[in-house]
Amino acid sequence: MAQITLDTISNLAKKRGFVFQSSEIYGGLRSAYDYGPLGVELLRNVKAEWWRSMVQERPDIVGLDSAILQARQVWRASGHEQAFTDPLVECGSCGARHRQDRLDDPDRCPRCGKAGELTEPRLFNLMFRTHMGPVESDDQLVYLRPETAQGIFINFENVRRTSRMKLPFGVAQIGKSFRNEITPGQFVFRTREFEQMEMEYFVRPSEAGEWFAYWLEERMRWYIDLGMSADNLRLRDHDEDELSHYSAATADVDYRFPWGWDELEGIANRTDFDLKQHAEHSGEDLTYFDGDERFFPHVIEPAAGATRTTFAFLIDAYAEETVNDEPRTVLRLHHRLAPYKVAVLPLSKKAELIEPAGRIAADLRRRWMTDLDTTQSIGRRYRRQDEIGTPFAVTFDFESLNDGAVTVRDRDTMAQDRIPAEGLAAYLDERLS
Ligand code: GAP
Repeated sequence: MAQITLDTISNLAKKRGFVFQSSEIYGGLRSAYDYGPLGVELLRNVKAEWWRSMVQERPDIVGLDSAILQARQVWRASGHEQAFTDPLVECGSCGARHRQDRLDDPDRCPRCGKAGELTEPRLFNLMFRTHMGPVESDDQLVYLRPETAQGIFINFENVRRTSRMKLPFGVAQIGKSFRNEITPGQFVFRTREFEQMEMEYFVRPSEAGEWFAYWLEERMRWYIDLGMSADNLRLRDHDEDELSHYSAATADVDYRFPWGWDELEGIANRTDFDLKQHAEHSGEDLTYFDGDERFFPHVIEPAAGATRTTFAFLIDAYAEETVNDEPRTVLRLHHRLAPYKVAVLPLSKKAELIEPAGRIAADLRRRWMTDLDTTQSIGRRYRRQDEIGTPFAVTFDFESLNDGAVTVRDRDTMAQDRIPAEGLAAYLDERLS
């Protein structure tokens, strides 16, 4: 099979309507992307699967949707105002800006290749700033949140009290985050606006190590259960000097991207850093009382990127193969992630086929995302559905008018079953649920 490159995936994403450059008609805004009709479905499905496994199926975790705009004190207490920085260097020759810690040669500009032209590193804060209200003064300054996690910590007591949660318990959140990255890139891998899926799991201090190990295993399993190849996944412990200011231990779930291993998700033991900081800065009591003693819970945090994970699922599902001497591109997405679950394909454009096929599609649509595809030859329509990952294609032909049966083609095996149209929903239900 041909090597999958970043271009292969980004071209497919653009061609089929998964992802578009933001503000494309104005020349494009770098490092922000719009999710098209198929991309938004894939992204929603990834988020729904995360929510299902983190919230719906767990008695010990509840959800939250906190505001993007938060009091400036939140980011002072969390340490982001002081420490959420990257070392920025600028090339005196071509003007390019780089993250110093990502340079292969710390003395050479990777854009123009000149040595000895890079400035001393300057710490650059990654938070986007804006102002609340009409006056652009310093005391109106607010940040767009750079992570969803802090919205959880500042609601710790609200959630514990209203949901009557007892340790260990978690609070999960999905939402947009913003970072003014110095070097965004690799398509949607590192962007300045992105979505995160984060869960803060509050535990007794003595149990933090155990829960850290538990969440490493759980999170790896989630990717594999949704069809990601185990060979393309690994856990990597952070070295001491890599740890964030709040972390006692962190491991990344890495994925083998076309450019090499890179982070999908970080799982951190944040200790009691955040709750203590917010208690101190706000004056509120954020301790937990278990009947015997009062203490600050420790926190284990699995923090994944929704947009980055969606991208990884897309890459992992991509395959090129040869079938009957013809090239075929197929997205072997897990059924639960596929944008469309089923496509209905009337064999010809004649009204006598289009109308009943339309009725079948309307019926299926009540249960699943269903595409009614009436253009081009049947072979090309199969190829198109393969390329966007639709698990089942249902063909309605002239014979269907007589025998009331349809042909269902399986994306992966390409095997075809002839079944009564009235049994179609049950047939798909058995295979899709
Ligand atoms: N609350 C901890 C935290 O935010 P992080 O490792 O900085 O940890 C968690 O971010 C995840 O968010 C990353 O593993 C990645 O998947 C995603 N992420 C972070 N920065 C991103 C960016 N600029 N573009 C896309 N995804 C990003």
